[in-house]
Amino acid sequence: MISNRFGKWNLVVISLLLLVAYFGIQTSGGSPELFRFFGRLHPAIVHFPIAIMVFALFLLALNKLRWLNISEGVINLTLVIGSWSGVKAIFAGLWLAQTGGYPAETLFLHKVMGFGATSLCAALVYLRTSEIPALKKPLFSGLCWGLMTIWLVVGGDLGGRMTHGEGFVTQYAPGFVVSVLGHPDPMKERFDLSMPGTTTVFDGIISPILVEKCSSCHGAERRNGKLRLDSAEGISTHEGDEPLIVPGKPEESLLTQRLSLPEGHEDQMPPALEAKPISHADVELIKWWVKEGASFETFISDANIPANILTILQAYGLGDIRTGVFALDLPTPDSAHVAALRMNGAVVDVLANGENLLSVSCKVVATCLTTDLDSLAQQVTWLDLRGSDVTDADLARLAAFPHLTRLNLSNTSITGSGLASISGSSFLEYINLYGTGVMDAAMVHIAPIKTLTAIYLWQTAVTPEGVALLKSSLPDAEIDTGEPKN
Ligand code: HEC
Repeated sequence: MISNRFGKWNLVVISLLLLVAYFGIQTSGGSPELFRFFGRLHPAIVHFPIAIMVFALFLLALNKLRWLNISEGVINLTLVIGSWSGVKAIFAGLWLAQTGGYPAETLFLHKVMGFGATSLCAALVYLRTSEIPALKKPLFSGLCWGLMTIWLVVGGDLGGRMTHGEGFVTQYAPGFVVSVLGHPDPMKERFDLSMPGTTTVFDGIISPILVEKCSSCHGAERRNGKLRLDSAEGISTHEGDEPLIVPGKPEESLLTQRLSLPEGHEDQMPPALEAKPISHADVELIKWWVKEGASFETFISDANIPANILTILQAYGLGDIRTGVFALDLPTPDSAHVAALRMNGAVVDVLANGENLLSVSCKVVATCLTTDLDSLAQQVTWLDLRGSDVTDADLARLAAFPHLTRLNLSNTSITGSGLASISGSSFLEYINLYGTGVMDAAMVHIAPIKTLTAIYLWQTAVTPEGVALLKSSLPDAEIDTGEPKN
């Protein structure tokens, strides 16, 4: 029915057409509107070649099982129709891709699968009609049938993902189908939130949104509006009539304005008819980033994350953010020094399991403020010297302890002059000076410690003026003077 010559020329012509299509219709190029109109029909007409190719496989299988007895020529004719309708779908698909808005990688793979299945379909006709004995080997045609089927399934799945979104095809699929097609949990894979201490808000959260939703039109291939949103550089060097980003002011930034327009507005981004819409949560995240200063350097753990943003990020898998000393990667404390301190009567504890942070407390300074303690200066974060014989001179040592978060000096005889040693502290949150001789003069040493949240000054020589000085420098800290709160 279908001659050897026909099979050969069919393959040659289809291969040529595919070459023309591949090299002639670039995603970044432009074509007349009529072609784009035809392109929009791709999702409808693409099912025809898929069905025809699967139908051919079906006929072959029934023949092999001897449930049917139709001529091989019918199968060949079906494959010829399949290959030509595949070509038609490919042209439409390429013109559709030109309207933009499709993720570049998925699009490329989808394209490869479509081209592959169509050329294999034409190759099958050739193999099946060929008179060359070597080509008649079942291995060749078996491979072609197998690959063609796989590419149809995977290519179709990719197409579905692009038009309807990740997971559309597999949403209701049984588990084994999901594992074959390998859809990861899109919520957990989307952002990079596993290392908030070393990942910037831009790299981990904002850039993935812009790449996914915007870079098909604002990337290397197309630069609509002369704008590139696929890199920090593209964003920071954009020159438009209006400022793209006004740090701290989402309402004045073109970037966020264009995302917040009413549905159907002609300036709306992404453009309503051409691309998938952006979610409300994504818009909130971009607005948050702009509001916090549109920094490319701020780490997620250092960012100010309001409750609504935290809710979104947690849904995407953000765990507890380790902050302060807990975010530090400290060496393990030397056990010999820990043992020596304990021998001398100091109480040394590990702050929490798995952390290299220590709490140390002692009553007799001579047994505790020793070179052993100095050797643990990186790890000591709580130091409790309450009721001890510590003097202002002893406190000079504390300058070498960069990670103190809690310091208890209550019921000692210090006057506070020694506190100068801790005024450069970057982590100190709590200081207890209750029942000491601390005076107003010492407040200048405490006032610069911006991390302080609790200061105990009950029964000291500090006057209301001293407290006022502290309050003006540390307005959010709780200062306890023993006065009833009002
Ligand atoms: C389907 C293609 C397409 C997609 C996807 C797309 N844009 Fe656009 N964008 C355009 C076109 C075309 C222009 C130029 C015409 C205009 O200004 O409306 C533009 C212009 C802009 C401008 C104005 C630039 C200037 O200085 O005038 C901004 C800002 C913008 N887009 C942001 C975005 C953001 C953010 C996204 C992703 C959430 C996005 N766009 C996704 C096509 C797209």
